[in-house]
Amino acid sequence: MSTTRHQSSADAPDHEAPKVHVVTFGCQMNKYDSELVEGRFQRAGYGVTDSMDEADVLLFNTCSVRDHAEERTWSWVGELKRAKEKRPDLVIGLMGCMAQRVEAEAFQRAAHVDLVAGTRQFHHLPRLVEEVRVRRQTPGLLPKEMRLLATDMEEDVIVDREGEAYRGGNHAYLAVMRGCDLNCTYCIVPTTRGRVRSRPIEDLAQEAEWLVGQGVQVLTLLGQTVNSYGEDFDKPGPGQPTYRGRQGRPSLADLLERMQAIEGLERIRLITLHPAYVTRPLAEAIRDLSKVDRFLPLPAQAGSDEVLKRMKRGYTLDLYRRRADLLREVVPDIELGSDWIVGFCGESDADFAGSEAFLEEQQFLVNYIFKYDPRPGTRADDHVDDVADVVKKERNQRLLAVSERVQRRRFEAQIGKTLPAFLDSLSERDERVLLGRTLTGMAVSLRAPKGLVGTTRDVIVDEAGAFGMAGRLAD
Ligand code: SAH
Ligand code: SF4
Ligand code: F3S
Repeated sequence: MSTTRHQSSADAPDHEAPKVHVVTFGCQMNKYDSELVEGRFQRAGYGVTDSMDEADVLLFNTCSVRDHAEERTWSWVGELKRAKEKRPDLVIGLMGCMAQRVEAEAFQRAAHVDLVAGTRQFHHLPRLVEEVRVRRQTPGLLPKEMRLLATDMEEDVIVDREGEAYRGGNHAYLAVMRGCDLNCTYCIVPTTRGRVRSRPIEDLAQEAEWLVGQGVQVLTLLGQTVNSYGEDFDKPGPGQPTYRGRQGRPSLADLLERMQAIEGLERIRLITLHPAYVTRPLAEAIRDLSKVDRFLPLPAQAGSDEVLKRMKRGYTLDLYRRRADLLREVVPDIELGSDWIVGFCGESDADFAGSEAFLEEQQFLVNYIFKYDPRPGTRADDHVDDVADVVKKERNQRLLAVSERVQRRRFEAQIGKTLPAFLDSLSERDERVLLGRTLTGMAVSLRAPKGLVGTTRDVIVDEAGAFGMAGRLAD
């Protein structure tokens, strides 16, 4: 990682410098990528602004996971047509997953877009923007020749933090791996993000240490399948022990152990795990390393073996159970969360009832539910999207009701207990209220002095709802 990120304020861009504004859609990795891109622009002499009107360069960091995410982006981009007519100097770019998926089609859909940069091109963005500007000054070029398309995925580059890519606060994201080697039939992510690439442990530790030096206390380690971290590394030679002396490639357990050693880092959170990569060493690391939240998002997606098979999730319900049981055997108080897709191709009433039953059985603490949305180019695109939208909507409502019931029950079971919780932040609505999470990932709010933000305290749980608990300080 670059050492130049320790820019002094004397090097900071002055008010004359062009300004970039990044609008982020999609998942946490996109939020992280937007921060990195802002840092790269700062290093290239740009300012960063939160105002569309002030920006000279407007970038949309896009998502393609469902059609809705794409449509929202297009409607924002569409709004800018007039702005571009008024300010022809404005550079408008699309970056990220949808940019990768649609490539040059973007220019047909919105002629005022200047630049399309795929998910493995972010590190080039300041240069690409400069090139758009140079082309505009070049006599004789047609408008379409002034545009740039950069969607190569072959480049073997690791995107990391460069420049002052830190926007304050005690929480930061850190992408430890990118891409996905699985091929769930409904999912566009392997197409848009490519194959798994993990960053070396020491690089990540350096970035984490730098963040902690800026005031970060909580790190969320990101990956599309974060527990496949290291699967792409070469096998180390004999005599190179990894977590607790085991032989093999470094894995997420080793990375967590290294992160645990960072002084000043208080909590480590993980998004998102896949059941296929749940191992005993990982469970033991979570048990042994006090900074790692004992909450794992471990999406089941469906509660029917036939549907899981058509989704090519790579597990049956029984295998999921065995992995969850392993986690609970090693870490008895661990909590799990899940994502669900309702109305996938061929999902019968009985299949759907299986999802309701599995959510009840596994007592997931946090659930995100999505209606199946066929994505062009995915393998499920060949199946028939045969569940009517009204049925998808109804199943969505029903599973939501089950999840709220289960979640409420899980939270209510904590009433009267005293639980250690990390106090993350002040409530935006009421400054006298602090928001925190128990070490098992349960959301809790309480009245407490501001000064306790960033500390771990015992909290007595008084009340509970479907999305968290309220309590008071124990001492
Ligand atoms: N890598 C993660 C999920 C990434 S996408 C995992 O393997 O679990 C985030 C969520 O979006 C998925 O968990 C899934 O529930 C949902 N999703 C993905 N593709 C979808 C589609 N085509 N239609 C509806 N929901 C989808
Ligand atoms: Fe998509 Fe499946 Fe990979 Fe998750 S594991 S990103 S759902 S292909
Ligand atoms: Fe969307 Fe890409 Fe994230 S498709 S969910 S932005 S990995």
